[in-house]
Amino acid sequence: MHNNHHAHPGDTLVIFGATGNLAYKMIFPALYNIFKHGHLNMNIIGVASSKYNREKLHQRATESINQTINIQQNKDKTLIHMLSCLDYVGGDYRDKETFNKLEKALQNAKRPVYYLAIPPELFTTVIKNLKNQNLNKNARIIVEKPFGRDLKSAQELNQVALSAFPEDSIFRIDHYLGKEAIMNLLYFRFANSFLEPIWNRNYIDHIQITLSENFGVKDRGAFYESAGCLRDVVQNHLFQIVALLAMEPPAYQGFNAIQNEKLKIFQSMRPLHADDLVRGQYKGYQTEPGVSPDSDVETFCALKLYIDSWRWAGVPWFLRSGKHLPVSAAEILIQLKKPPQHLFDDLATQGEQSNYFRFKLSPSAAIALAARIKRTGKEFIGTQQELFLQDLQPEEEAPYERLLTDAMLGDRALFTREDAVEAAWAIIDPVLKQHNKSCFYKKGSWGPQAAQKLIGNNGHWDNPKPEEHKNNFKS
Ligand code: BG6
Repeated sequence: MHNNHHAHPGDTLVIFGATGNLAYKMIFPALYNIFKHGHLNMNIIGVASSKYNREKLHQRATESINQTINIQQNKDKTLIHMLSCLDYVGGDYRDKETFNKLEKALQNAKRPVYYLAIPPELFTTVIKNLKNQNLNKNARIIVEKPFGRDLKSAQELNQVALSAFPEDSIFRIDHYLGKEAIMNLLYFRFANSFLEPIWNRNYIDHIQITLSENFGVKDRGAFYESAGCLRDVVQNHLFQIVALLAMEPPAYQGFNAIQNEKLKIFQSMRPLHADDLVRGQYKGYQTEPGVSPDSDVETFCALKLYIDSWRWAGVPWFLRSGKHLPVSAAEILIQLKKPPQHLFDDLATQGEQSNYFRFKLSPSAAIALAARIKRTGKEFIGTQQELFLQDLQPEEEAPYERLLTDAMLGDRALFTREDAVEAAWAIIDPVLKQHNKSCFYKKGSWGPQAAQKLIGNNGHWDNPKPEEHKNNFKS
């Protein structure tokens, strides 16, 4: 899986957007854990346009770490050490002076890693200024999603990034790839031999992937207005899951072998058409802070897609995600075909209950295979029962801890490649431009009625059930 074993580790992490939301919620806690687990030694420079100084950034970092990790502020050795490595550079990203200051702060750094945890509109400005100041030498760059907002802008952004950094120094983050249960999809498929014979159009009827959340856009209304569900989670997180489930076995062990196969999946996906997509918006979204009162932005979408390859021809993939749905969960259902002959009475009455695989990704992770088993009694009638193949342990590292460590070390296995990102945009590009209006849905429902119809003769959506044991899955 790993590549670039011989890459030199980065020695300084420069976080653009150090006083922002993502840094607060994800990055500082992840960095704390990196220091605690002793993965890496590094200096950190927070950059932001806020009127901050070193002390204020230290306060904010401490507060952010305190939100998720129980620490004793003045005594915690890891925290004291981490703060001693954390510096601050303030200034406007459009201003050359900011990059002069950054250059000074970086004078002892041999291999800086720049992390763009900033609004996407600023990516280009920062990359260009890093280049103008010659700060791109021997450096890597980590780019947060969304990587572009459609095919054209993703191509432009890739061009700008490639004008300053070689492709193998660009780390495009999709935090789903750092999740244990998602890494296991690749492992489970190719470390076992029993799946391969049935993993195709001959045995699989259709596939469903649901990523549901039981909360709204919270304080991210303004960001969400420029994104919507398709850009926010479908083009990246859900498509990455599709690629891992659909890809051919990689030809050899290594980053590029996997990327090559993922790319082929996006290349053989049929670009979406307006009728393949149902867009929904929860009632009340239009009055959320930062949201336009006549917004048509989708907070829910359900779509049907096809991969026109030898393995998958004719097998529909149903993807669905939304905010304010009944539960927070991520699940995959691989619905197998019915037996070709109806030998028993129950198959006639409960025809749609054929075998399936279920991959639960979140809140807890598990894999189940459902098979029919005869009930006791004279009649040949059975029930579908889930055989649990695996109950995954909680994650050792949260995705951001893992991905930041990998990026510092120069390991690209869990990042995305330019061509695959663009190919994924090409699939949804047509429906970004032309789509049906969003239908309203009630908070706490499974989205608009029209989503049910999308499945048509393939049955119905399999709704994840609430779980008693939560938080197996750190994010
Ligand atoms: C993010 C989206 O990329 O993924 C969010 O911007 C979404 O809107 C989140 O809530 C889901 O990630 P997770 O790890 O909580 O399943």
